[in-house]
Amino acid sequence: MSIISKDISKAVTILNNEELVAIPTETVYGLAGNIYSEKAIKAIFETKKRPRFNPLIVHIPSKDHLNEIVESIPEKAKLLAETFWPGPITLVLKKQSIIPDIITAGKDTVAVRVPNHPTTIELLNQLEFPLAAPSANPFNRISPTTAEHVEGYFKNKIKMVLDGGACKKGIESTIIGFENDEPIIYRLGSTPIEAIEAVIGKIGIKNKKDIAPEAPGMLERHYAPKTKTILTDNLNKAIKAHTGKRIGVLAYSDIIDDDVIDFKIVLSEDNNLQEAASKLYDALHQLDQQNLDIIIAEQLPDYGLGKSINDRLLRATKS
Ligand code: TXA
Ligand code: MG
Repeated sequence: MSIISKDISKAVTILNNEELVAIPTETVYGLAGNIYSEKAIKAIFETKKRPRFNPLIVHIPSKDHLNEIVESIPEKAKLLAETFWPGPITLVLKKQSIIPDIITAGKDTVAVRVPNHPTTIELLNQLEFPLAAPSANPFNRISPTTAEHVEGYFKNKIKMVLDGGACKKGIESTIIGFENDEPIIYRLGSTPIEAIEAVIGKIGIKNKKDIAPEAPGMLERHYAPKTKTILTDNLNKAIKAHTGKRIGVLAYSDIIDDDVIDFKIVLSEDNNLQEAASKLYDALHQLDQQNLDIIIAEQLPDYGLGKSINDRLLRATKS
């Protein structure tokens, strides 16, 4: 029997019982549990096989709840929350002492966001606690953007996937931390840097080497298909270099027609980066199911969401 359901009250019952429900957000599906239940939070780490040093994001129904989670809010954090919430920005701020150590991996900061999905906002409003929710994929695998992706991963491990359709944004939230009250990007994501800079001015990106394992979204290999995957800025050349193999191609907008390709997906024929982001993970899921020898992914333009998509593709190709 399918574990996919649209029944919000059933999700409420399961979560009140300290068990897990996969929830839809605008970015990717999350594997959610009560932040104050040690049982639920342990189950999140076990189900995902996620290392305990990798902290979780807390999801709240509106910015009015932020004070219950964090201690102090820098001016620029307030501005970001007001501008982008509900939406795909996660703020890492000084935590209140009530936030359990297992959520934050013992750190004195907590990651928090208001997801922009009507079903999950409704769910959060019916609960008396926020939800911790990492992406609903096993550690290092491709993030899920449909209820079916989650079911494929966790059919026998969780009771329910709350169905909210395909995720509109398609890649994870942009994570912003604060050091001496100044913002810095910990993870590129669904809110482009340019949009953030339009609100708070110039912002840096934390160097991966400085941060790991502090924000393991920065762990190098991540979001990865099982099939060997390479990234190229010259599709035709890369395809030629692999003739004789079963080749899958993930292209941005060009429809290259070549007999030697076994399976191909074009992310956006109109060169639309948002469309490409929303299709990215489903494309990787599909390609990974074709028994290919190699997936050749084309680099996207390196601005706006293209930068965030390239970041995910690069991590998918690390071996
Ligand atoms: O779009 C999203 O953010 C999705 C949806 C479900 O909300 N969630 C998500 O969670 O991507 P997850 O667990 O896959 O990624 C959370 C990232 C991790 O890289 C973690 O290291 C970082 O957030 N993080 C969490 N708490 C942190 C903290 N206190 N300091 C620095 N990084 C933190
Ligand atoms: Mg994840």
